[in-house]
Amino acid sequence: MTAELALLGRAPAVDNARHVRWPVLDDSDRQAVLTVLDRGVLSGPFAPEVRAFEREFASYIGTRHALATNSGTAALHMALAAVGVGPGDEVITSAYSFVATAQAVLHQQAIPVFVDIEPHTCGIDPALIERAITQKTKALLPVHIHGMPCDLDEVMAIGKKHGIPVVEDACQAHGAMYRGRRAGSIGDAAAFSLQSSKNLPCGEGGVFVTNDTAMLDRANSLRMFGENVRQMEDVPWDPQRPLDASRAYDSVHVGWMYRTNEMSAALARSQLRKLEAANAQARQNAQRLSAALSTLPGITPPSEPADRTGTIHKYRVTFDASAMGVSAPPKTVRAALIKALRAEGLEVVMWQSQPVPGQTLFRDKTGYGSGVPWSVWNVESPVRYDLDQFPQTTRLLDSSLVLFSQSCPIFPQPTELIDAYAEAFARVWRHLPQVVAAASAQS
Ligand SMILES: Cc1ncc(COP(=O)(O)O)c(C=O)c1O
Repeated sequence: MTAELALLGRAPAVDNARHVRWPVLDDSDRQAVLTVLDRGVLSGPFAPEVRAFEREFASYIGTRHALATNSGTAALHMALAAVGVGPGDEVITSAYSFVATAQAVLHQQAIPVFVDIEPHTCGIDPALIERAITQKTKALLPVHIHGMPCDLDEVMAIGKKHGIPVVEDACQAHGAMYRGRRAGSIGDAAAFSLQSSKNLPCGEGGVFVTNDTAMLDRANSLRMFGENVRQMEDVPWDPQRPLDASRAYDSVHVGWMYRTNEMSAALARSQLRKLEAANAQARQNAQRLSAALSTLPGITPPSEPADRTGTIHKYRVTFDASAMGVSAPPKTVRAALIKALRAEGLEVVMWQSQPVPGQTLFRDKTGYGSGVPWSVWNVESPVRYDLDQFPQTTRLLDSSLVLFSQSCPIFPQPTELIDAYAEAFARVWRHLPQVVAAASAQS
């Protein structure tokens, strides 16, 4: 192999310093936060930025209600509690997600039951849900992973048939469309994350959404110490006494402190105005890169069913060693590609590398420490987390990579960088057997 690869001394195909770091913050964001500082109101249940953001976000998503929270996990937890999930109940969710999805279930001392994915959207496979339903199933929790809506109509139909509410984990799916409606507006409730890597970032934050007013009232109370918060009442808000709204200080059940603050809400409002542009650029970049990568043997870019539009929150490519003309286990090929592509200056990450139930928390059922909630609530027919139940998730994660990273995701990158990624792939693909052989020899 002559020095045709950066791995062997050639100049990298991509100048890594040219990546645009996310989030992109401009004067309008600065001004939004400064306005809060000038006003001098940093928080409060009825503070103006939070309430304005909730109205604007609900209107954008197409739900009647939204409640801003201090994380996506908080919004998920509130949603599960609001639909009636409690200790010992079971919640069916996808084996491929960020751990927060299942952690939110555990926060209610409920039992996560994982179902494998289908390969087109990488979302929960609806064909496998019904056999996971038991008397204890109290919610379905599908995830729009990478911002691609899962097969939601099928999930909703199962929920309806069995009288089980559906909570959408839309933490990666701000603005994604499913059959003409926005992800997050279809289930009984949904949760979004506003953490810094998301297409709609504000640092840390989240949003709970629902169309159901009773659900809103429950979630609103859960967000604030279990107090009887009547947000829908038009409480007069006095900017001179922002922390002294009428409040009974009488918790009626367990709740949490999941409220957010004015600076985060102001930044979220400002970023919401730019979300459509960010999503459009993500799609344009993804389409351009996918067109180029599709010409290489053995590589499959993310797919997008015709009836939905994803946010490309993560751009995951799958590879097939035999179609690539190499003979090595998927994980070896994956390691070889990571090394060669990083040497070419690309941002390449694995993000998740195993199904969620493979994490120690589930494998050892450590839970709250002494095995709770399983040791208390799931003794008679213990839920199994063995990975043999999740072949599609395992196959996907063993044989794929996420291009770009949390710090430098696909959405803000310039076209030239996308083209340089395609060139780097072409280079590596011209030398695949050697790239993989070198990695195999080292492992
Ligand atoms: C699919 C999914 N669910 C839940 C979460 C939790 O959101 P947060 O980090 O804001 O709590 C995330 C965020 O990383 C996520 O990607």
